[in-house]
Amino acid sequence: MFAKEGLEGVVAARTSICLIKGAEGAKAALEYRGYSIHDLASHCGFEEVAYLLWYGALPSADELRDFSRLMRANRTLPRRVSRALASILRDLTPIDALRAAVSILAADDLDAADNSPAANVRKGVRLTAQMPSIVGAHHRLAMGLKPLAPDSTLNHAANFLYLVKGKRPRELEARALESAMILEADHGLNPSTFAARVAAGTLADLHSAVVAALATLKGPLHGGAAAQVLAMLHAVGDASNAAGFVRKALAAHARVAGFGHRIYKGDDPRAIDLKRWCERLAGKGDARRRREALKLFDCAKAIEREVRKRVPIAPNVDFYAAPLWSMLGFQPDQFAPVFACARIAGWVAHVAEQHIDNRLIRPEEEYIGPLSRPFIPIEQR
Ligand code: CMC
Repeated sequence: MFAKEGLEGVVAARTSICLIKGAEGAKAALEYRGYSIHDLASHCGFEEVAYLLWYGALPSADELRDFSRLMRANRTLPRRVSRALASILRDLTPIDALRAAVSILAADDLDAADNSPAANVRKGVRLTAQMPSIVGAHHRLAMGLKPLAPDSTLNHAANFLYLVKGKRPRELEARALESAMILEADHGLNPSTFAARVAAGTLADLHSAVVAALATLKGPLHGGAAAQVLAMLHAVGDASNAAGFVRKALAAHARVAGFGHRIYKGDDPRAIDLKRWCERLAGKGDARRRREALKLFDCAKAIEREVRKRVPIAPNVDFYAAPLWSMLGFQPDQFAPVFACARIAGWVAHVAEQHIDNRLIRPEEEYIGPLSRPFIPIEQR
């Protein structure tokens, strides 16, 4: 039987990682291993949530200390990845460079071909720790600067900002990034995680599965959506232009970037928290930054109001992630890599889960082409 286009409504995996309750309007909810993302994003660090996703339980204080130490000790890139970044990968877009660098990382990973649960977690620690180093090094090299060595006194999110921006972030900025990365750490069978599970289902290793996941972040409907949102906010320019923009876009049946979702029929619970972070950050910094951030945020809120007035769709995670990433100093072409640095936690958990109880993922197709055509030799065509 043919499923709806885009596999809508198809249940393609049993999982104990992430629960999305999407179709319940204002009551939509998202839980990792049974914990609400609102609690996790408010009270946990990113390392703590990665531990939860991979081990299925929140760590004790001692376990978290050891795990964080391990993550910090694995941030430095192998020499051949640094060399590749400084040469050929420097000229690629950030998401292309990240995808290629993850492939190269496999060459130095002693566990590369081991699909056991313990090896997947060991590799997960290394990949999660190293991906921000790749994004930071690529950014600085593209700007003609030397990559920085990771700062082991900083937690995962603060170190990420330091590697990209070249200065230690303010506490509020580091906490905003950390909280946003927790909100984006997993989301069930979204396109990138599904791609990772399909690759893992062939018994491909974790690095290969992560490369498959990264490939899906190139398109504007998934990882590329936040960059489209920022471009839209800049094009609209001012909150006073929002009504005209939305009216025209909807009349032309165009998609408004950052709206709509396959699963959430009402509010996306992540967007609610990200909007609050935008609010908190927009009022901070020097006068020029404050002015720019408030203008961007006001414009986003006005677009949200205008869309909601006209159609029953709500902002998704990318709508407020875009102004937030921008306020934190990331460039639009870094938005997808930032998302990847968060979602790697979920990819690792899903690949490990797939490997533990694997069956090849191979849906069927409905053939709609011509049938039983008589073959015509080439001279007669
Ligand atoms: N702007 C205007 N109308 C929309 C939008 C939008 N962004 N999204 C959905 N709709 C309408 C759509 O026209 C359709 O209306 P109708 O039933 O009258 O034809 C209805 O909502 C259902 O849309 P759909 O295309 O069946 O929904 P889908 O589940 O196939 O697509 C989506 C989901 C996220 C690709 C889509 O909403 C979209 O293109 N949004 C813009 C891109 C975007 O923000 N992507 C990030 C997704 S969230 C992060 C992630 O998971 O990666």
